[in-house]
Amino acid sequence: MKHGELAAGALVVGLSLTLCSSQTYVLTDKGGLGRAFDGIGGLSGGGATSRLLVNYAEPYRSQVLDFLFKPNFGASLHILKVEIGGDAQTTDGTEPSHMHYENDENYFRGYEWWLMKEAKKRNPNITLISLPWAFPGWVGHGKNWPYDFPDITAAYVVNWILGAKQYHDLDIQYVGIWNERNYDIKYIKLLRYTLDKSGLDTVRIIASDNLWEPVVQSLLLDPELSRAVDVIGAHYPGTTSVKEALKTQKKLWSSEDYSTFNDEVGGGCWARILNHNYVNGLMTATISWNLVASYYKDLPFSRDGLMTAEEPWSGSYVVESPIWITAHTTQFTQPGWSYLQTVGHLAQGGSYVALTDGKGNLTVVIETMTHDHSVCIRPPLPPFNVTSQNATFHLQGSFASIKELQVWRSQFNFKTKKSSFFEKLTPQKLFDGSFTLELAEDEVYTLTTMTTGQKGSYPDSPPSARFPKVYKDHFNVRNPPFSEAPDFADQTGVFEYYINMTDPGPHVFTLRQVVTERPVTWVADADQTISVIGDYQWENLTVSCDVFMESVKAGGVFIAARVDKGGQSVRSAKGVFFWVFADGTYKVTNDLAGQTVLAEGLSGTRAYGWHTLSLTVEGQYASGLLNGYPLWKNAVVLTKNGWAAIGTHSFELAQFDNFAVVAEY
Ligand SMILES: *[C@@H]1O[C@H](CO)[C@@H](O)[C@H](O)[C@H]1NC(C)=O
Ligand SMILES: *[C@@H]1O[C@H](CO)[C@@H](O)[C@H](O)[C@H]1NC(C)=O
Ligand SMILES: *[C@@H]1O[C@H](CO)[C@@H](O)[C@H](O)[C@H]1NC(C)=O
Ligand SMILES: *[C@@H]1O[C@H](CO)[C@@H](O)[C@H](O)[C@H]1NC(C)=O
Ligand SMILES: *[C@@H]1O[C@H](CO)[C@@H](O)[C@H](O)[C@H]1NC(C)=O
Ligand SMILES: *[C@@H]1O[C@H](CO)[C@@H](O)[C@H](O)[C@H]1NC(C)=O
Repeated sequence: MKHGELAAGALVVGLSLTLCSSQTYVLTDKGGLGRAFDGIGGLSGGGATSRLLVNYAEPYRSQVLDFLFKPNFGASLHILKVEIGGDAQTTDGTEPSHMHYENDENYFRGYEWWLMKEAKKRNPNITLISLPWAFPGWVGHGKNWPYDFPDITAAYVVNWILGAKQYHDLDIQYVGIWNERNYDIKYIKLLRYTLDKSGLDTVRIIASDNLWEPVVQSLLLDPELSRAVDVIGAHYPGTTSVKEALKTQKKLWSSEDYSTFNDEVGGGCWARILNHNYVNGLMTATISWNLVASYYKDLPFSRDGLMTAEEPWSGSYVVESPIWITAHTTQFTQPGWSYLQTVGHLAQGGSYVALTDGKGNLTVVIETMTHDHSVCIRPPLPPFNVTSQNATFHLQGSFASIKELQVWRSQFNFKTKKSSFFEKLTPQKLFDGSFTLELAEDEVYTLTTMTTGQKGSYPDSPPSARFPKVYKDHFNVRNPPFSEAPDFADQTGVFEYYINMTDPGPHVFTLRQVVTERPVTWVADADQTISVIGDYQWENLTVSCDVFMESVKAGGVFIAARVDKGGQSVRSAKGVFFWVFADGTYKVTNDLAGQTVLAEGLSGTRAYGWHTLSLTVEGQYASGLLNGYPLWKNAVVLTKNGWAAIGTHSFELAQFDNFAVVAEY
């Protein structure tokens, strides 16, 4: 029997049925406890979802981090899951690998290390999880597959975990296999072996960050595999697990969930699944993709984070309802607490869970989200009804003598748009271990013995503003805190700060594209590399940049405007692209793939020399300058608006310097 059905059995009809319609629900530990709770978390990466956060000025950046991680303040997350960057596009951008090349190791790239340290600074107990989406090309030996050389892949992943400890004193507690892609049994066993051999026997393996099956069958059939894996992680499980999953005796997690626009329906989705993932599926952890929506809003899955921080140039950020919905559970529980067996559905719709620390503390979370106000992006939500109702909770067992509970309430109000979130109400007195709540539709309640809850706040962040009209970056950074330049969002390839100490002139500090081989991809990365920047609404502007090709044979670089696509659609990006090549030619194309040529000819450009490109777009027409002289003009542009961009013709080394945009709006 499923646990949820057990709980429904504990539902007893109220004695006063003839007087009013109140149902009674027993909360007790008499028959033993339910499963151990592992926490609620957010996922940074998969991909590049925290990209813009790092470029926020203080104090706003710290404020966002406080809303996410600070205990008893905001979401107070228990878990931070991050991507192990693989140099490839993983939804909203690429994240850099710690090993671009086989003989390369660097544990200071990207921003996930920084994010983990900031999270840990606020909550030393936060659980850290890591998972690869993609791998550098050398890991697959040229094949788009990471398992032909499983020892290489395992060593690559274990290096990242060792690097986290050695360079950042971060203890990674869990590692996954390959996000939402096939797993390989031999690889999982080898990963276990490699972890153990490297002194990382406390690092647990999650499999397989996809559906319940087939990994559940694999675990039931293979005891050695079963010994290697500690957690079955399913994605977007629709709050249910499968019977066979229970037979494995493993922890069951919704290791990626939510992915819903963070308006109030998004908050409702999150409220419903946080309870239902345990009530229906016995899942003991739920992790939101994503942690914080910190990527350009015109990239895919805009605002699918617990909060929004997508404007580092203005400092504006928004604490959205999912933050407060998270707080309803996270501020009053900890990983290591246990669910009670008495959890379930409410008679008139909605659900309740109860958790205890085993030392007398009790936290009850109740939600009455209606269907239409709690739809998530996936999977489809079957119809159900919720109506207002009175619910009486009767505390028994260790909780029988509780006299008072703290009460926190959120009320979604879709009619008046005057919702209230995470309000502290007057404590609830208990009589004979009972209390009754009048529950309306679309509410979330926490009743708890814990007195530590707090609704954190900061003064309003600055008003939202458009990306600056005039933007310049000379990349003259000596000790960069991050490997990438502010506001550049890599969509294929990786663009990093570079220092050429032997350069006598003005190009000692540059930005360099460093991926030289097609990665083991997660989506269809472009065959070119590209990093976008700016305002998607930009129409008329001049983009200019100094460029330096390092590939003598086939070198090519571009600057672009009105680039209309990124993320997993980057291959089909259109715009106006001004290319120069090491063979002394130039081209103007309407697409990143270079198939629609608007102009072409001789440029005299070559590798290992600096050239200045300038691209002006005005209305329907574009023109280009090379080293200050007109090279082409009156090319007819087909896209109406989009980002500015830089990039290369193939996976090749190239440098960029003195990037500038002057836009009109
Ligand atoms: C971390 O966990 C320990 C042990 O459970 C607890 O005593 C401590 O208060 C926790 N620290 C924070 C900041 O939550
Ligand atoms: C509940 O938790 C608090 C804070 O962790 C602790 O001080 C208290 O002893 C616990 N037990 C009860 C019954 O409140
Ligand atoms: C919800 O309520 C309506 C109206 O009473 C009823 O027609 C419908 O069958 C109910 N749906 C479910 C899933 O119970
Ligand atoms: C809940 O109880 C109150 C007070 O007894 C009563 O006025 C109300 O009608 C009840 N609501 C429902 C939905 O039964
Ligand atoms: C570094 O600068 C020197 C001197 O200008 C130049 O010859 C060399 O090609 C540059 N190397 C790279 C990788 O940029
Ligand atoms: C861009 O320039 C064209 C032609 O000058 C003009 O018609 C259009 O309004 C401009 N767009 C914006 C957003 O300023």
